Amino acid sequence: MATVRTSIHGYWSSRFAFVLAAAGSAVGLGNIWKFPYMAGENGGGAFVLLYLICIALFGLPVMMSEVLLGRRGRSSPVNTMTTLAAEEKRSRVWRLLGLMGVLAGFLILSYYSVIAGWALAYVLETATGTFSGVSGEQAGEVFDNLISNPRRLLFWHSVFILLTMVVVIRGVNKGLETAVRILMPALFILIIIMIGYAMLHGDFLESLKFLFAPDFSKLSPEVVLKAMGQAFFSLSLGMGAIMMYGSYLPDDASIATTSFQVAIADTLIAILAGLAIFPIVLANGLEAGQGPGLIFNTLPLAFGQMTGGLIFGTLFFILLVFAAWTSAISLIEPAVAWLVEKFSISRFISSIICGLVAWTVGLGTVYSFNSWKKIDVFDGTILEGKSFFDLLDYLTSNIMLPLGGILICIFAAWLMSEKSRRDELKIKYEVAYKLWRFLARYLTPIGVVLIFLHVLGVLEKLNIT
Ligand code: PFF
Repeated sequence: MATVRTSIHGYWSSRFAFVLAAAGSAVGLGNIWKFPYMAGENGGGAFVLLYLICIALFGLPVMMSEVLLGRRGRSSPVNTMTTLAAEEKRSRVWRLLGLMGVLAGFLILSYYSVIAGWALAYVLETATGTFSGVSGEQAGEVFDNLISNPRRLLFWHSVFILLTMVVVIRGVNKGLETAVRILMPALFILIIIMIGYAMLHGDFLESLKFLFAPDFSKLSPEVVLKAMGQAFFSLSLGMGAIMMYGSYLPDDASIATTSFQVAIADTLIAILAGLAIFPIVLANGLEAGQGPGLIFNTLPLAFGQMTGGLIFGTLFFILLVFAAWTSAISLIEPAVAWLVEKFSISRFISSIICGLVAWTVGLGTVYSFNSWKKIDVFDGTILEGKSFFDLLDYLTSNIMLPLGGILICIFAAWLMSEKSRRDELKIKYEVAYKLWRFLARYLTPIGVVLIFLHVLGVLEKLNIT
C-alpha cells in the first residue's frame, strides 16, 4: 500500500516519462565531457572497470533507495526527509540530508553551467567555421582565448542559467517533461551519428583497447575514489535530484525496473560517448590525459580536418548542450521545489531566486580559469595548486555525493520500517528485494567508507592494506 501523500508540484505523466527525465538528469556533461577525460587521465580501461563496478554495487542500490524515499515523501528532499523521519520516529536531524543536497545542487550547477557555457560557445565557433583546417596549436588557442576571457565565460554561463530557468519555471509537466521528451531522443540520435562518424574517420579498434583493456598499474586509492565519485556524479545520486524526480513518480511504477533502466541508459551513453570521442583523439595523436579541456581542445582539431566536420562538430556541441540542459534542471529542481513549499511563493519567483544564487556562485568558476587559477591561501597544503573549480568538483563528486548516498541507504535500508520499505518498493521477487536490502544495508555504506578511509591513508596506517 502506498501512502496517501500527494505532490503539490505535479506528477510525471507516465512511468516512461520518469525514466526519460531521470535518464535526462543522469546523462549529461558527466558522460560526454567528464567521463572521457577522467578515463584519459586515470589509465583508461582500469578506471572504466572500476567505474562500472561502482555503478553496479553502489549506483543501483542508492538510486533505488533515493527513488523510494522520494516517492514516499512526495515533496522536496528537505521536506521528504522531515516527513519520513517523523513517520519513522527518527531524529529531525535527517532533514540536514535534504539541505546538504540543496547545497550540493547549487555548488554543482554553479560550475556545471560554466562548462555548459563552453559548449554553447563552441556551437557558435564550430558552426561559423572557426576550426576549418586549424592546427592543433590554433585549436588550443581558441580554447585558451575562451577560458581566459571572463566576460565571454560570464556571458555563456548567464545564457545557460537562463535556459535552465526557462524550463524549471514551467514546472514538472510543461517544463521538465516536455524538455526531456524532445531533447533525450535528439541526444540519442546525435550520439549514434557521432559514433558512426568516429568509426569511419577515427581509430575505433585502438579506442576499444584504450577503454576496455585495463592497466592495473595505473590504480591508486585516489583513482578508486575518483571512479566512485564519477559513478555518483554520472547517475545524479546523493544530492536529492533523483529523490525529487521520484516524488513525481506515479504510485504503480516499479522502482526497481525504472532505476535499472536509468542506470543502464546512463552507463551506455557514457561508454558510447567514449567510443565517439577516443577514436578521433587517438587517430589524431592527441593527448588523452589532458584534463577538463580534452574534448574542447582535441575534437575541434579533428572536426576541422575531416570531411563533414563542420556539420558533425556543430552537432556534437549541440548534443553536449542538450545533455547538460536536462541535467541542469534536475540540479536546481530540489531547491526550487523546497522554496515553493517553504515560503508558499510561486515557482516563477523561486526559480529566479535559485537561478540567481547558482549564477553568483558560478562567478567563482568563471574566474577559476583566468584571474584565480590557483588559490594562494592553500599553498603548502594538500590543496596547493587547486582552483576554485577543482575544489568544487572534488568536494561535490568525491565527498558530498557519496556521503549523501550512504546516508540515503542507511535511512532507507536500516531506519525505515520493513513494512514501509516493502510497501513502497513493491518488489515481486523476494530475492531481488533481499539483494537490494543487502547492498543498501551493508555493501554500499561499508564500501564507500572503506574507499574514504583508503584515500585518507587510515587503512594503510592500520596495516590493513
Ligand atoms: N549526472 C549529471 C551528469 O552526468 O552530467 C550531473 C548531475 C546532475 C549530478 C544532477 C548530480 C545531479 F544531482
